[in-house]
Amino acid sequence: MDKNFYITTPIYYPSAKPHMGHAYSSIAADFFARFKIIDDYKVHFLTGTDEHGLKIQRSAERAGETPQKFCDEISKTFRDLSDTLNLCNTDFIRTTEERHKKTVQYLWSELEKNDDIYLSNYSGWYSVSDEAFYSEDEIEEIDGKKIAISSKSPVEWIEEESYFFRLSKWEKPLLKYYEDNPDFIYPESRRNEVISFVKSGLKDLSVSRKSFSWGIPVPSNKNHVIYVWLDALTNYLSALNYPNKDDELFKKFWPASIHLIGKDILRFHAVYWPAFLLAAKIEVPKRVYGHGWILSGEEKMSKSKGNILDPLEIIEEYGLDPLRYYLIKEVSFGNDGNISQDRLEDCINSDLANNYGNLCQRVTAFAIKNCDGKIPSEIKFLDEDLFILDKYKKNLDNIRSKIDHQNINFYIDYIVNSLFEANKYFNDQEPWKKKDDQIRLNTIVYTTLEIVRKISFLLYPIIPESSLKALKIFDINEDQIKLNSISDNEYLNKGNNINKIDILFKKIEKNND
Ligand code: MSP
Repeated sequence: MDKNFYITTPIYYPSAKPHMGHAYSSIAADFFARFKIIDDYKVHFLTGTDEHGLKIQRSAERAGETPQKFCDEISKTFRDLSDTLNLCNTDFIRTTEERHKKTVQYLWSELEKNDDIYLSNYSGWYSVSDEAFYSEDEIEEIDGKKIAISSKSPVEWIEEESYFFRLSKWEKPLLKYYEDNPDFIYPESRRNEVISFVKSGLKDLSVSRKSFSWGIPVPSNKNHVIYVWLDALTNYLSALNYPNKDDELFKKFWPASIHLIGKDILRFHAVYWPAFLLAAKIEVPKRVYGHGWILSGEEKMSKSKGNILDPLEIIEEYGLDPLRYYLIKEVSFGNDGNISQDRLEDCINSDLANNYGNLCQRVTAFAIKNCDGKIPSEIKFLDEDLFILDKYKKNLDNIRSKIDHQNINFYIDYIVNSLFEANKYFNDQEPWKKKDDQIRLNTIVYTTLEIVRKISFLLYPIIPESSLKALKIFDINEDQIKLNSISDNEYLNKGNNINKIDILFKKIEKNND
């Protein structure tokens, strides 16, 4: 059976520069992509920018630029961020690209053909910041200003001719879809939210706008542009060259394995998107995962709230892998999480420098001195060695299954515990006292090196660069990292040279006053 995996991040609005929230979604997606790569899947990993709509048009106007030029500039900062974050994405899509426009117009025509779209008039509340329509009971008034209760963003009243998508018609089919596919929406709390929202009744959805022009024209009526969310969601298909169903990418990767998104945009992905797809008779993605927010204090970190920790500044100061590790470890996946520089420093010192970095340094320095600088050849495992080594093999299927449920928390706990255990093993075995029993000394060194190798493989999806640096000890390169091989207790080539490596993580001097 072909093992294919298609993962997507949200496509980001290039209305302002990227911030930590964007970095978080992308890093989490990169983690899953890399895990699947080392587990021998063919991976398609898509990210990009969402460039149409009133929000972008207004931001461009404020900057005194045309929307296209404005998007070109900021979209580039998102593309650069993908490099800075060391994402292994296989594509980067912009919704202003021709390939995308074609797919969106095709999908629209399909919906129209199937009688799921009709022309009428819209009057109601709209948030430009969220690019979302809100009903009367979803808004509140604070200091004389109307805002959306869920996002706290301002809403404005709009009244205009608009095309509608018959969302109401899909209420029952959607509920049935959720019931038949209990794994579609994760985590479970979000699934429950979505189901109760749909059960409370779906109204038809306005899917075109007439009062501005920055969007993809409705094919049959150029006075309208297509609603930016219908436009944006379709990126997941246009990147696979849909509607060309014979296209290799489409055949291999649709339906998507997972759309990874923040919980703020769950409704669009778990209600509107499957409804559009069901209406167009296209298979629905296997999973939508809504992760939590990175908070600053108690609030969502966002540009409009001015409470941003800039990922680029953090990377500049501490390096990329510490940030990747910290975000994955500290923010319990699926929930909101507070982050701070202070905790980041603690995490670098304890987990990365003391636990992982130190283990690598200690065992290599010891082996260089006491095993002739080579991976020991003559070894004889005792039960205590096999006990610690076999755990990786025993847990492998469990790890795979946890990752298939996006349980990153389990994964990181497993690594942290393994690191503690490995350090403890090396300490308790006291190889420095075994100089008169070379085989025992060799075996302890070999066992510890094997564990360093296995843990470095497991760390690769989280901190790829550092894991590769550590694996230089054994001359192991990226293509050789295979998850399966963590079951092998004698993977390392006996007699090969051990390479000395530079310090992996510098400890941060902390001022404890
Ligand atoms: N353009 C839409 C998405 C279209 S997808 C078809 C959009 N863009 S956005 O620029 O606002 O980015 C939204 C995504 O960025 C969120 O869903 C989330 O994945 C991420 N985050 C933005 N702020 C965040 C936090 N403070 N914390 C965590 N993630 C957040 O919505």
